[in-house]
Amino acid sequence: MTQKIVVLLGGRSLERDISLKSGARVTAALESLGYRVVPLDIGPGLVDSLRSEKPDAVHIALHGQFGEDGMIQELLDFLGIPYTGCGALASMLAWDKDLTKRVLLADGVPTPAWVAFSADAIKEMGAARTLERIGDAIGGYPVCVKPARQGSALGIARVERFEDLADAMLAALGYDDKVLVEKWVEGTEIAVPVLGGNGDVEALPAVEIVPKGGQFDFDAMYTAGETEYFVPARLPDDVLARATETALAIHKRFGCRDISRMDAVVTADGTPQVLEISTQPGMTDTSIVPLCADESGLGFEGLVDRLVKAALARG
Ligand SMILES: Nc1ncnc2c1ncn2[C@@H]1O[C@H](COP(=O)(O)OP(=O)(O)O)[C@@H](O)[C@H]1O
Ligand SMILES: [Mg+2]
Repeated sequence: MTQKIVVLLGGRSLERDISLKSGARVTAALESLGYRVVPLDIGPGLVDSLRSEKPDAVHIALHGQFGEDGMIQELLDFLGIPYTGCGALASMLAWDKDLTKRVLLADGVPTPAWVAFSADAIKEMGAARTLERIGDAIGGYPVCVKPARQGSALGIARVERFEDLADAMLAALGYDDKVLVEKWVEGTEIAVPVLGGNGDVEALPAVEIVPKGGQFDFDAMYTAGETEYFVPARLPDDVLARATETALAIHKRFGCRDISRMDAVVTADGTPQVLEISTQPGMTDTSIVPLCADESGLGFEGLVDRLVKAALARG
């Protein structure tokens, strides 16, 4: 009998609309591949719906909280339903940029210098008294202020001078109760998708990201034509090889499976400075991984089929 796949999409995260787009595209691809597909919006009725649908596997097309933070993965593990993508632990680790960077630092993987503050440290421990030291501690301004756990560049600001730091941190704290202040790195922005797991891991070509407005913000990510992409990135072969090796090493180290995407800025000396790992990369018409899948010959349907087959094999 044809296998039944539930596509999880939507939910209450700030990236709900992006997830609806990813989910619709995944649903269409799975249908044309011949699967029976049931799209389900995340809500309090989810477990009951999963119990009555009894899918052979779930494709998680969620972004942001409720999809990338490991909770849905934990729930599906408990229910015994196989799903696409990284497991709970890898998801939790990659979802928190502070934890991610701590692991990278411990492994000697280059990542921009940073300091993280929780709302509690600011409110209860007087951490705000250290703000004037941050610039010197991480190599000077400009800095990038970002929520530790968020996506789609929401809450992210480039800050040119100390006088604007507190406001940017307050704004980022509106998205998460932990914020990072990170050295702003100049260079060539790239993303490297990695597929597979368990010894059978492969990187797709690095994608170079050139936003027309200069910054890769929400609009640059999701408005067609606002960002130019080059596949493979226009970098020397040895630099591309180093970026690919880094992405593969992180995928393995974090215990990722099926898919991940490393975001990095390659500095003038050819070093990929890793910004983050995404375990639920966008699957919309303007997203990087689908573009890369097209350019590398795998195609969007090939990509989705591969993800779902990997999940089914775990069933
Ligand atoms: N330290 C930094 N230096 C330069 N650009 C940065 C830095 N941090 C983030 N950015 C820019 O902001 C974008 C989003 O940041 P990222 O850390 O990848 O978070 P998100 O989870 O929102 O994608 C990046 O793609 C990059 O363009
Ligand atoms: Mg990113």
